[in-house]
Amino acid sequence: MRILFIGDVVGSPGRDMVSSYLSRLKEKFRPTITIINGENAAGGKGITDKIYRRFLEEGAQAITLGNHAWDNREIYEFIDDAKNMVRPANLPDGTPGKGIVYLKVNQDEVAVINLQGRAFMTPIDCPFKKADQLIEEARKRTSIIFVDFHAEATSEKQAMGWYLDGRVSAVVGTHTHVQTADERILPAGTAFLTDVGMTGPYDGILGVERDAVLKRFLTALPVRFEVTKEGRTQLSAVIIDIDKQDGKAKKIQTILVNDDHPFFS
Ligand SMILES: [Fe+2]
Repeated sequence: MRILFIGDVVGSPGRDMVSSYLSRLKEKFRPTITIINGENAAGGKGITDKIYRRFLEEGAQAITLGNHAWDNREIYEFIDDAKNMVRPANLPDGTPGKGIVYLKVNQDEVAVINLQGRAFMTPIDCPFKKADQLIEEARKRTSIIFVDFHAEATSEKQAMGWYLDGRVSAVVGTHTHVQTADERILPAGTAFLTDVGMTGPYDGILGVERDAVLKRFLTALPVRFEVTKEGRTQLSAVIIDIDKQDGKAKKIQTILVNDDHPFFS
């Protein structure tokens, strides 16, 4: 079982990178399933039904979200019908959508869980307790469990990796938009990476127009953040190999495609 996960797709530059590279990545790595974090896919703010469907048409099987899931109000109209969309599971009861989906792959099933951190973020329900609950539920059906932990603090993400070691196949972080170089298999068999990184503008600041971000840092004035539309782009992803019998990870490898890290097919 091989999972390809593409990190935070930001606006049209990110969507264009998915269109350009997903088939090439599939040809090279031959993943069993592909998952995309799409919480910033619509102009850097949320996701639309059209973009969700396009990701599925282009070859993804599940789309994960995060704290920006609700920025585009269109989501309220389609999230309950989007069966391959996973929003943070530890949002209060009654929040639309679901925090876990099961993907059928031949005779196997993969549970995909999305959780959101609380350090320097909105204080929602405990992601650790929610993980316990969902893993107990998921393990009745499958030992292959993938977790996208959408969180700000590297410490909270590492804590989640160690907390879930041996109970899930992989914990990968999203949200901070910069790929970390700490990919590893933890001792009890969970693949871990603090942050997968961002798919979108390469010359912005975390995908946002540099001038606006600089103005925010240089002055105390409010500014409007827009996705960098011009310039170079990048793709950030990770590949995880899992033993489908016991759900333990065997290998984790990061993928970074940009002008400084060209893609070799
Ligand atoms: Fe985020």
